[in-house]
Amino acid sequence: MPTDNTTHGKLSTKAFWSQPASKRAETFARLRREAPVSFQPPPDFGTPPSTRGYWAVTTADLVTHVSRTPETFCSGKGVNFEDMPIELLEAGSAFLVMDAPRHTAIRGIVSRAFTPRRIAELDVAINARAAEVVREFVAAGGGDAVVDFARKLPLWTISTMMGIPGEMQDAMYDAAEVMTAYVDPSLVPEGQDGTAMSMEAAMTLHGMATQLAAERRANPGDDLISALVQSDVEGGLNDHMIGSIFLLFAVAGNDTTRNSTSHGLKLLSDHPDQWQAVKADPDRLINPMVEEIVRYATPVIQFRRTATCDVELGGQQIAEGDMVVLFYESANKDESVFENAAAFDVTRDPNPHVGFGGGGPHFCLGANLARAQIRDLFRHLAAADAHIDAGEPTYLASHFVHGIVGMPVSV
Ligand code: HEM
Repeated sequence: MPTDNTTHGKLSTKAFWSQPASKRAETFARLRREAPVSFQPPPDFGTPPSTRGYWAVTTADLVTHVSRTPETFCSGKGVNFEDMPIELLEAGSAFLVMDAPRHTAIRGIVSRAFTPRRIAELDVAINARAAEVVREFVAAGGGDAVVDFARKLPLWTISTMMGIPGEMQDAMYDAAEVMTAYVDPSLVPEGQDGTAMSMEAAMTLHGMATQLAAERRANPGDDLISALVQSDVEGGLNDHMIGSIFLLFAVAGNDTTRNSTSHGLKLLSDHPDQWQAVKADPDRLINPMVEEIVRYATPVIQFRRTATCDVELGGQQIAEGDMVVLFYESANKDESVFENAAAFDVTRDPNPHVGFGGGGPHFCLGANLARAQIRDLFRHLAAADAHIDAGEPTYLASHFVHGIVGMPVSV
């Protein structure tokens, strides 16, 4: 295996990911300067174990290049560090871990629910729900950023799209949480196994999907589950694949948007001048603000690809089968692309961040849906002329999700 002495294997340690992103930024800045593509030892994050080292890609141009070259850097062998059988990966991540032509076909079924027209239609309801969330939060004078504000809209939105009844929504949220958060030891109760918890949560979500699919076969509506049960791709999707897609949406659609919103509250509280500027001219600044929150926070820290052949990347010789990890967190602070990259700037334009991925076939399907939710929440907060005063966040100690577990906020 190749080695690279300049990186000291920091990215593979739990200690590195237990630091706040502002601290990690120093290491990433050095890697971008000295070793844009560096070989890192097998991750030592606790669970689940990984036996292989990986290439860390840290600059914006290389993250974009790899994302847009799926023939050479595929997703079909996994997109996280874990070496797992593909059947297990697909059970949890559906088309996220597939390559063309299967990826194209299955993504195609669900992408009809994400056309600009469908999102605009849905946005009418999202906007009304956002108004309610803001009204309650402001009336209470604030509360916890996550529980009382950020978690409400993503959960409602994804449930509405999938046609998930109210009584099932909290159970879905909890299971989706466990799926991604188990890597933080503080969230795994004493004496319990994080991997087992994650598997159990996955089975809970699969069970919900099977129940919903049966209901929609008998009584179709215009929600996503109905579109899945009616599709004839692969001779009709079976319950197992529908469960996997359900799981992907429950995880991808919830905590990413929620964390962006929580980070947004913190950033705007820390930069009152910027929030003032947004409140003074929301029509001009609300959309650039949303992009800047996603760039600055980078709620998804990294995704992995696998080399399908021997190839050179950023001066390094990558061997077929090697894992190549795209650190969006680093690319989004790349000084060669973003002027004054360390600054939070709601007027940043252009803002070619890779928070939703670096382009290519796996680019975030829910990007416009996420943008709509974040925009609507902050637009209503701006209209209420809310002053945001956020306390210290408790961060999730994760190498994958840049999450806020809790944070007191007064408005
Ligand atoms: C701010 C919020 C969000 C962020 C930061 C985010 C980020 C990402 C990233 C980085 C990827 C991988 C891109 C790649 O590999 O090139 C991704 C994929 C995906 N996202 Fe999002 N996402 C967000 C919200 C959402 C929402 C709201 C949904 C759905 C309702 C969603 C659904 C998906 C799906 C289905 C994929 C897989 C696409 C594929 O493999 O073809 N995301 N997202």
